[in-house]
Amino acid sequence: MSLQNFIESLDGLLDEAKSSLDTVASNEQLEALRVKFVGAKNGAIKAVQKLMGAIESEHRPAAGKKFNEVRDAIQSLLDTATDRLGGGTKTSNEPSVDPTLPGVRPVLGQLHPITQTIEHLKEIMGRLGFNVTEGPEIEDTWHNFVALNIPEDHPARDPLDNFYLATAKKQAQNPSDRDAMLLRSQTSTVQIRVMETQPLPLRIISLGRVYRPDAPDATHFPMFHQMEGLWVDKNVTMAQLKSVLRLFATSYLGSDVRVRFRPSFFPFTEPSVEVDYWWNGNWIEFGGAGMVDPNVFQALGIDSEKWSGFAFGLGVERLCMRRFGIVDIRDLYRSDVRFLRQFAS
Ligand code: DAH
Repeated sequence: MSLQNFIESLDGLLDEAKSSLDTVASNEQLEALRVKFVGAKNGAIKAVQKLMGAIESEHRPAAGKKFNEVRDAIQSLLDTATDRLGGGTKTSNEPSVDPTLPGVRPVLGQLHPITQTIEHLKEIMGRLGFNVTEGPEIEDTWHNFVALNIPEDHPARDPLDNFYLATAKKQAQNPSDRDAMLLRSQTSTVQIRVMETQPLPLRIISLGRVYRPDAPDATHFPMFHQMEGLWVDKNVTMAQLKSVLRLFATSYLGSDVRVRFRPSFFPFTEPSVEVDYWWNGNWIEFGGAGMVDPNVFQALGIDSEKWSGFAFGLGVERLCMRRFGIVDIRDLYRSDVRFLRQFAS
């Protein structure tokens, strides 16, 4: 190797070091450059130094002088860059973590009060022999209305009282349309689905969301939950219905709860009652119930002479609110963890 070439490669190295070290912006990059130029194993300086052996002996002193100059220049570029970046972590003896600072406590999640309530209700009803089933939240009019004996002109089917879906087939849905789909307005849909598919006798509950276009206030929300119950067997009676709802209420709300059944009307039960529980000095309606209407059995091809049943539907939010002392349903759905954390399971 000629002296000329040797000097040229040293100058090239110095230029490269200059341009990269003048602009280096982080200690990590600086460390990488330090390794690249002066690293003891594979640094560029080391590599050039090895070439020195190939230079004629007469030129070696000049080569050595040049080599030392460039090596020192690169070292001082490194020092300048180190100062500019406030000193590398390498040179600092201070620990980068202060072990005397208090730790950060991990935040534990917890179940939403409605989820807790649902689990609790399943457990109570499970002890009374009810199996848990589920149904879809998007329903057709057969399951939400027709099979439940809710005729076409019934006000419950009004588009203003339901969330009909704009399907691919049609933009605006007509409630009398057999293909219309909607967000289910009640979990009674699951009664139909279960009787369509499961052999009798059966005893089920189904807990899930229902949707109604109500303006939110302290007691209304456009999405809420219901617990539906259905017991079909031979000789099921209204007395059993009352016993089950009373047993359920004392299990969930306490043995001192007062229960009242008021005669009412639902298209899918006959006779029908509304179920009230005493709450803060008032009778509050928690849901409806009754004996399965023979028309419902008939729509499903079940012999109503042979089979009888009762059904009920209770509002889950109301049960949860009464148990936890929550006064505004909207608080459950604001996703404010300061509120929700009060109901640790
Ligand atoms: N589906 C009714 C509602 O949402 C509640 C209800 C009443 C359910 C009577 C029942 C029942 O199963 O038998 O208002």
